[in-house]
Amino acid sequence: MGVRGHFAVFWKCTAFLSLRIVLLVLPTGLPVRSQGDSQSDNKVMDNITVRQGETVFLRCEQEGDVVTHTAWLNRSSILYAGEDKWSVDPRVSLVTLNQDEFTIKIENVDMTDEGLYVCAVQTSSRPRTTSVNILVQVPPKIINLSKDIVVNEGSNVTLMCQANGKPEPSVSWKLVSPSGDLASDDEYLEIPAISRQRAGTYECTAINEIDMDVQTVDITVNYAPTVTEGRDIGVTLGQSGVLECEADAVPEADYEWYKDDRRLLNGFDGIDIDSTGSLSTLRFFNVSDGDYGNYTCVATNKLGTSNTRFLLYEVIEPTSSTLLQGPRAVQDGNGGAIGMHSHSCLLLVALLPFLLRF
Ligand SMILES: *[C@@H]1O[C@H](CO)[C@@H](O)[C@H](O)[C@H]1NC(C)=O
Ligand SMILES: *[C@@H]1O[C@H](CO)[C@@H](O)[C@H](O)[C@H]1NC(C)=O
Ligand SMILES: *[C@@H]1O[C@H](CO)[C@@H](O)[C@H](O)[C@H]1NC(C)=O
Ligand SMILES: *[C@@H]1O[C@H](CO)[C@@H](O)[C@H](O)[C@H]1NC(C)=O
Ligand SMILES: *[C@@H]1O[C@H](CO)[C@@H](O)[C@H](O)[C@H]1NC(C)=O
Ligand SMILES: *[C@@H]1O[C@H](CO)[C@@H](O)[C@H](O)[C@H]1NC(C)=O
Repeated sequence: MGVRGHFAVFWKCTAFLSLRIVLLVLPTGLPVRSQGDSQSDNKVMDNITVRQGETVFLRCEQEGDVVTHTAWLNRSSILYAGEDKWSVDPRVSLVTLNQDEFTIKIENVDMTDEGLYVCAVQTSSRPRTTSVNILVQVPPKIINLSKDIVVNEGSNVTLMCQANGKPEPSVSWKLVSPSGDLASDDEYLEIPAISRQRAGTYECTAINEIDMDVQTVDITVNYAPTVTEGRDIGVTLGQSGVLECEADAVPEADYEWYKDDRRLLNGFDGIDIDSTGSLSTLRFFNVSDGDYGNYTCVATNKLGTSNTRFLLYEVIEPTSSTLLQGPRAVQDGNGGAIGMHSHSCLLLVALLPFLLRF
């Protein structure tokens, strides 16, 4: 406030000095009267708030007096002295100059145009100045943002988002995907000992009265594989079978399969190994005696390794006698039902003549 006050006084003084200079140098036939400051009239008009890029009109009332000289000043430099343009800035131009008003405009206003503008008027009676304070509003812009990062689980992570704008934008962070609890009303977001659940897309928002700017940062959290416990499977000799190994890992795991201590390779011994992302499958096209036994799936990434064991065991193919007691028995049951059904049909047909009598 104090600083502003001093500036205001400073600009007023500057404006007065400039006014004197203008009045002295202006190409005019009219004599300049010397007058005391006590007879002058100085007004500070309201602030004019304008957005960056817009046009601002600076209007000065001439109030019907006989105006001998008039000028618009930006700080200490003259923009217009009467209809003579002193400013070299092409954005500045004259709009109206007559007995009632003296209006100039500044196009494509920028931050540097902010400040006090003074209209200095010399009338037949007294000199006076009118001051206008131009305030420039700037939409927020994020100027310094953390890059997308890849970290290991447990690392301390700090995200940064710096923005400029006028008025000063407020900056906040939040985890957007997967939607999370994590948020901060600050340029910095601290994530101590980051967990895999905190991986995702983080959004920085810079907002002021004028507009907002939103940018995102992706955090990838690496962690060692965890494989789901293998399910033992039973397969009949000569049939096909599949062992499935599922691993949760970032980055995605590489898989290896072992029969006891022997590494299994894709395409050999009538097996097919297919590994994509979080799943690896070991497929037997035609299980032989030698295939039964213990299998191990090993999932590895740069942060570690994890494994699980499967047992491929033999299922004795049902003999003709077990078939009769097994699935066939169910079929017989069905057959029975059909039989029952046809019996009731026969019964209905037999009863029909009796039913029709009534
Ligand atoms: C003009 O703006 C300044 C700074 O934002 C403020 O201190 C002052 O009160 C404003 N004046 C008026 C008349 O609105
Ligand atoms: C006003 O003066 C400032 C400081 O010299 C300058 O940066 C700005 O461009 C000027 N604006 C106009 C419209 O003359
Ligand atoms: C962004 O922030 C970093 C760290 O504070 C700093 O070193 C760098 O200079 C900043 N860059 C810009 C363009 O402000
Ligand atoms: C994370 O920050 C904590 C507390 O400041 C510190 O004790 C720990 O060593 C840091 N961890 C790493 C991996 O830098
Ligand atoms: C499975 O292998 C056995 C022995 O090698 C062979 O007799 C049989 O025809 C094979 N079955 C199939 C479906 O390939
Ligand atoms: C499979 O591993 C288990 C546990 O180590 C062991 O008891 C069993 O004998 C093994 N089976 C075969 C067929 O090697």
